Amino acid sequence: MQYLAKNMIPRPTEIVRASGIKVYDSEGNEYLDLTSQTLDLNLGHGHPVILDAVRSLLDTEGFTYYVSPRFKNRYVAEFAERLVGLAPEGLNKVNLHMCNGSDANEDALKRARKYHRDNNRRMIVSLNGSYLGASSETISASGGNIWKEPCLGGSGDYIFIDPMNPYRKPEGMTIEEYTEAKVREFERIVKSREDVAGIIMEIIPFNAGVLVPPPDYVRGIERVCRENDVAMIVDEIQTAFGWCGDIFASNVYGIQPDAISLAKGMTAGFPALAATVFKEKYDVLKPGTSEYSFGAQSLGCVAALANIDYLTTSGILDTIPEKHERFMSHLTRMKEKYPFIGDVRGLGLILGMEFIHDDGSPDMDIGVDVYHAAFERGLLINIPTTERGRHSAISIKPPIIITPEEIGDSMERLDEAIKSVL
Ligand SMILES: Cc1ncc(COP(=O)(O)O)c(C=O)c1O
Repeated sequence: MQYLAKNMIPRPTEIVRASGIKVYDSEGNEYLDLTSQTLDLNLGHGHPVILDAVRSLLDTEGFTYYVSPRFKNRYVAEFAERLVGLAPEGLNKVNLHMCNGSDANEDALKRARKYHRDNNRRMIVSLNGSYLGASSETISASGGNIWKEPCLGGSGDYIFIDPMNPYRKPEGMTIEEYTEAKVREFERIVKSREDVAGIIMEIIPFNAGVLVPPPDYVRGIERVCRENDVAMIVDEIQTAFGWCGDIFASNVYGIQPDAISLAKGMTAGFPALAATVFKEKYDVLKPGTSEYSFGAQSLGCVAALANIDYLTTSGILDTIPEKHERFMSHLTRMKEKYPFIGDVRGLGLILGMEFIHDDGSPDMDIGVDVYHAAFERGLLINIPTTERGRHSAISIKPPIIITPEEIGDSMERLDEAIKSVL
């Protein structure tokens, strides 16, 4: 461990075994994992459909585990076709030559800027509190300031606006007025400047605290982008592949953005593949400007195909609304019991809980205590990382295969953890 760099910050616990939503450490302790590890494992740990698909490819006579992305590969072609079939209408091109969400977001940013190169538009609107990746450019694009240091580079060509936060809507405004004001704010920026190439946003800004906007907000942003030929890039690295009840949250919101970035749940967490799906007019990059050695590899594609087959044929997506209600009824009960819980919210199985002081202002510290108390009770939850280790919200994003009993058990542990920090 002493050779690991500081940025890796491992906790002393060593995970040695996992199955479904349960992980076990080297001391034999069991944890219910409501984080899907780093929010990747939509089908939980060691799902048989993923293991079988990968095993069967590995066992194929003559299978080569690495072929250069410069050669044709039927698994890549097949997966790209499946993605286009499930993506919102009009998104019919795929770049699969990437490994991480950061690569995918950067790919989409490059496309937006290259598309607008002749009219010198290169500014991108991004949301405060967002996390978009760890490459220099995606650190620069992220709205959470803790990661930014001038020496880390990135273009800095971003305009930051606040995400919509229905829980903290301005006093005296209805949600409809607030929605309209936020769409107008974006429209004003686009119309008052000559240099806006696009916007990059999550539909549900996860690291900003799981903020669920009304559909009219997201559709309003889409309208402004369409009317002004500005690229709407939707980061679905957290929201795609089942958690919101569809393969794409964009489908749930009924939008057709210009580009969608994908990673994490795309392969059900099997390393390592990322993608962008986009409209043909953004197919503007030259070979070599957005491809990585380990992108577009067969094992990742086969895992992703098995994942999509399972999601679309097993009926699992139909269970999401009922599981959402089950979680929400537990979370709502906790909110009624503990006055320092200000809000509980979520879409599908992406859920958040916000802590407040007596005067209603955000309590940035209690979440960390709840996080540690939950860990001691064998429960893994997540604190969004906008401010290092501190946030007024905790988030819950379990594998979607979680059972009603596991929801009940995990919510009991969360309740105990919250009670213990009183
Ligand atoms: C919304 C969002 N975008 C992008 C990323 C970056 O993905 P990766 O870590 O695979 O580069 C993350 C990672 O947590 C994320 O949550």
